[in-house]
Order: sequence, then structure tokens, then C-alpha cells
Amino acid sequence: MTDLIIIGAGPGGYKAAVYAAKKGLKVTIFEDVHVGGTCLNVGCIPTKTYVHSSTFAEAVERQPQVVEALRGGVETLLSHPNITLVREKGVFINANTVSGVTAKNIIIATGSSAKMLPIQGADGQNVGSSTELLALKELPKRLCIIGAGVIGMEFASVFQKFGSEVTVVEYLKECLPMVDSDIAKRLRKLLEKRGITFYMGAGVKSIDGSTVLFEQKGKEVAVEADYILMATGRKANTEGLNLEAAGIALAPNGTIPVDEHFKAKTLSNSPLKGEKTSEENLPLKEEDTGQKVSPLRGDLEGSSIFAIGDVNGRQMLAHAAEMQGIHVVNQILGIKDNIRFDFMPAAIFTEPEAACVGPTEDQLKEAGTPFECHKSFYRANGKALAMNETEGMVKLCCEPEEGKLLSAHVFGAHAADIVQEVTAFITLGATLRQLRETVHIHPTLSEVLIEVN
Ligand code: NAI
Repeated sequence: MTDLIIIGAGPGGYKAAVYAAKKGLKVTIFEDVHVGGTCLNVGCIPTKTYVHSSTFAEAVERQPQVVEALRGGVETLLSHPNITLVREKGVFINANTVSGVTAKNIIIATGSSAKMLPIQGADGQNVGSSTELLALKELPKRLCIIGAGVIGMEFASVFQKFGSEVTVVEYLKECLPMVDSDIAKRLRKLLEKRGITFYMGAGVKSIDGSTVLFEQKGKEVAVEADYILMATGRKANTEGLNLEAAGIALAPNGTIPVDEHFKAKTLSNSPLKGEKTSEENLPLKEEDTGQKVSPLRGDLEGSSIFAIGDVNGRQMLAHAAEMQGIHVVNQILGIKDNIRFDFMPAAIFTEPEAACVGPTEDQLKEAGTPFECHKSFYRANGKALAMNETEGMVKLCCEPEEGKLLSAHVFGAHAADIVQEVTAFITLGATLRQLRETVHIHPTLSEVLIEVN
């Protein structure tokens, strides 16, 4: 008997499977490509291998070794006696059955794939997504990147380091639209200083062989490139799942809409009709204090279908997918947790890194939230000077008078680790004063946090 079916063994799916299995649930997990998903095989891990290689040749050589070692680790985790790994695509037969396996609870964790612009020339041989770029065996002499989002900026940074002549074409006025504008601007300016050419406010219209054509300030511009990276967003993987059979509706952008506990919303003619709506199912209210309170137990007929990770389009981040999966398994088990999905840290692994948690300064202003901003700079930090990493800044936003911490925005070496510390404080509802009163090891980069003005 299977308690839980999971479709997709990326970070969301495999972590949920292992967690559920350890808690005693019988899990069947479907995966038709490689375990580890985009993150491990063609995303975060290979990209970070590139960031931490000094030459392109070294990166190309190390990438398969790192990926295979990690993939082996995930396969070992999935060999748990409570887990059955089915190496085929999971397809819904009905709301309780996926490819012949029946269970009351099903998690869709199928991830996303690159969204290619529907423009002329996008199907050219020298045009591809990050997956194809990571498969190149020769360094492109001239690389044109369409899109200055997370993928565009990470690849711009690393390929410039390897020696490519990099041009980035971005539709918006500034890179990284979801990042605090102070941080985004500093990062772009630094990369510009290193020789990367940015065309901002420039929407690409077509590609003609090796020429990228776009308009900027009313003028037609053409950029020549040996390889063109399309980094213009990702789309949810839902094709071939036969979601209609399960009564799952798709949002206009192709993602699976979910409620705040990641339960998939269903069509009105769903086979799940008659089941309480997602909203009514919402378990785990603030005032709940007991450990076993899940309304998913006992009072629901039929099945519960959840969608976690990129496929629900909430936050396209591996760690978001993982935590969503844990939260879903907790609901199935009737365990209350306090995972704060409203404080989701994120990092951009350029050199140096940029990272953030919580609302940007602009978002706080727009929301009319009373707040104050405190800044400090890497150039005044002893460890940063010793490391020759003086480029960087920290911005902490908190309630007035050094009150409750609201957000952190960091640009500089190891920004992700520094933001991680603030995430812990924010999650626990701490104030800036409490952060300042926490002893920090000297000399460390983390001291930039207590050095804020
Ligand atoms: P993105 O949504 O971050 O950025 C896409 C960019 O392309 C936008 O700035 C957009 O304005 C621009 N664009 C769209 N059409 C264009 C056109 N015709 N001409 C010029 N520019 C155009 O998407 P990206 O970078 O592909 O990343 C996809 C997802 O993967 C994101 O949600 C990202 O957060 C996630 N991701 C996260 C990573 C991390 O956390 N370190 C690493 C890689 C991906």
C-alpha cells in the first residue's frame, strides 16, 4: 500500500519522499529523467561548479564529477525501505491514481523548464537555455545573454571570468527586478566595470543567425554573438501529466494554483467535487498549539493533491520547494510546523554574490510600512580587507528605533551566508538591537551586520 505518491524527484520531491519515509509513510516516487531534478543536474549545482572553477576547461571537467557524486547520494537516500522509486513519468489516471499506483495523498513536484521567447530565430543552433550553455565544450568567444534576471546575471558573471566577451540585453531599466534596486544597480555597475556590456530598456525582437536584434530608445541595435543564451524566465512542467483526469486547473501562466498550504485548486467539475474547498481545508491556524491537529485527517473523503516547487510558480527556488514539501508531509501526518514562507531568503551567485530576505526598500515604501534603513560597507570590515573583497554593502530594514527586523539586502562576498544569519533573526521576530547585541566572531564578514550605521 502506498500512503503518498510523489511525481518528480527534484529537491522538492526527493526531500519530501525521504522525510515522509523516515516518518513511516510508504512513498512511491516517479522520476523519468535523473533524480535531483534541474537543481542538481543542470541548475544550481553545475552553475556553482562553474563559479568555483578558475577556467572554463576546469569547469567542464569538474561538472560531471560533482553532479554524479551528488546524484549517487540522492539515489542512496531514495533507497530507503519505505520508498519505491519508479523510473518513469507519472501520469494521472484519476484523482487517486498515478500510472497504476493509488494513494490518498499525491504531491506534484515536476519543476519547470526554460521559457524560450517566441521570436524569429529562437530555434537557431547557437541559441539555447542555461541547460544547453552548460553542455558546451568550447567557450563561446562572444556570448549574448537575453534577460538580466537571476540566470542572466549569474552566467554573465561567470562567462566573463572565463574570458568570453559578454553582452546582456534586458527589457527592463534595471537588472534583477525582484532585488532591492540599490543592490541590483551596484552589481550591474561592477560587472560593467569588468567589461560586460549591458543594454537596458531593450526588448529583443528577433535573432538572425548569430545576430541578436533589438530596439533601444527608438533605435535598432544588432549584437553579434557566437552563442545566445535565452534567460527570460521558466515555465511550469505540466505537459503529459493528464491533470484533467485529476480535476486540476491550470492558472493562465501555466502553473498549478495552490492554496497557502500548497493544496492544488481543482476544477468545479473535478472528481474531487464534494470535497471541502482548499480554503476550508486550511489547517494549522495560528491559535493551534497541539502537535496533531491536521484537518486533512479523517474529515476528507477522496484524495488530496498538492503541488510544490517551481510547478506552482510561487517561488522558483530549490530551498522553497524543499520546505514546501516538508510542510505538505507535515500536514499529511498532522504535524504542526511554523515554516515562514513569507521570509524566503534568496541569493544570486555572481562574483561577488547578492542576496536578500524580506521586502525591498521600495516595497516597504509602497506598502506604507514605517521603517528605517541601516547600512554598512565591506570596505570598513577587517576580514573583507584581508580577503581583498572590499566591494560590498549591507542594508538592513527594521521597524523604527532599531525595532523588529524586516529585511536584509546584501551585495558582496558571501552575501548568501550573511543573509542566512539575518533570516534566522527575522524568523524569530528579533529586533536590530538584539542582532547588534549578539556577539560576532572577530574577524568575520558577518560583523558587517553589527557595523550598520
Ligand atoms: P527571471 O524571471 O529572473 O528574469 C528574466 C528576465 O528576462 C527579466 O528581467 C525580463 O525582463 C527579461 N526579458 C524577458 N523578455 C525579454 C526580451 N524580449 N528582451 C530582453 N529581456 C527580456 O528569469 P530567469 O533568470 O530565466 O530565471 C528563472 C527562474 O529561475 C527565476 O524564478 C529565478 O529566481 C530562478 N533561478 C534562481 C536561481 C537562484 O536562486 N540563484 C538561479 C537560477 C534560476
